Amino acid sequence: MEAKILSGKEVADSVLEGLKGRIARCKEQGVTPGLAVVLVGDDPASQVYVRNKSLACESLGILSETILLPADTDQETLNALVDALNTDTRFHGVLVQMPLPKHLNELEVIRRILPEKDVDGFHPENIGRLIIGENTFLPCTPAGVMEMLRYYNIETSGKHVVVVGRSNIVGKPMVNLMYQRLPGANATVTVCHTGTPDIRAFTEKADILIVAAGVPGMIGEDMVKEGAIVIDVGVNRVEDPARKKGFRLTGDVDFEKVKGKTSAITPVPGGVGLMTIAMLMQNTVKAAEEQLNRKKWQ
Ligand code: GUN
Repeated sequence: MEAKILSGKEVADSVLEGLKGRIARCKEQGVTPGLAVVLVGDDPASQVYVRNKSLACESLGILSETILLPADTDQETLNALVDALNTDTRFHGVLVQMPLPKHLNELEVIRRILPEKDVDGFHPENIGRLIIGENTFLPCTPAGVMEMLRYYNIETSGKHVVVVGRSNIVGKPMVNLMYQRLPGANATVTVCHTGTPDIRAFTEKADILIVAAGVPGMIGEDMVKEGAIVIDVGVNRVEDPARKKGFRLTGDVDFEKVKGKTSAITPVPGGVGLMTIAMLMQNTVKAAEEQLNRKKWQ
């Protein structure tokens, strides 16, 4: 069976298209959705992400401002900036790009962002709401995976989903979304991580395998069940002298070898990565709508 290649671009474009009317309705009511993005330091991958976020805002007519701070910024300065963005009514979403330089406390910053402006869905309050199934901002990458599965009508209910990776940004929220008693979820979930001695024993049993480990090519064909659906969240830079930039992007899955064994698979690049930004745009519009409605009733 030929594997279906799940296009992140196709799904992301459909999400973005769906936001246009919602943005127009906000503007009719005098509100332009706004996103503030903070980048501390000069990590090259983060610079690319932040730039892509601002370009996405621009193409949709969302106001965006990127605030660049030097790598040696101290915690007090960053906290004060977050406080100022929290009270700035132009911005409905506030995002601090992770990872932060080692001397800064990420959780302290995340906690400081107002939960109603936390378009990353990283605030402990929003993570708690996700777990108990309340309305919240879903973290963008796991939400993007859910949206791709929904778009391609991939059944999750009753399936065995195996997640490889337990980061706060992807693995943990992914797991906690997948088992919810909701359409597009309701799966049986297994989590593998660096403490799992034999990852293959689990991955080879997965109906849907979601890999977010940050280890290039770690999933080989021997680790995947025939006909499985494979979602590759990895975005790794590997050295490649043949490329102008000196590197290429590759996933956590050995795409060429694994592809033939799957019924559907996401490529890297062109897969989940594009979804992250689309879901961030969706969360920003949702934040604007909710803040607008709150103001109306006050
Ligand atoms: N670093 C990697 N992914 C993300 C993300 O979705 N949001 C933020 N703020 N930082 C990240």
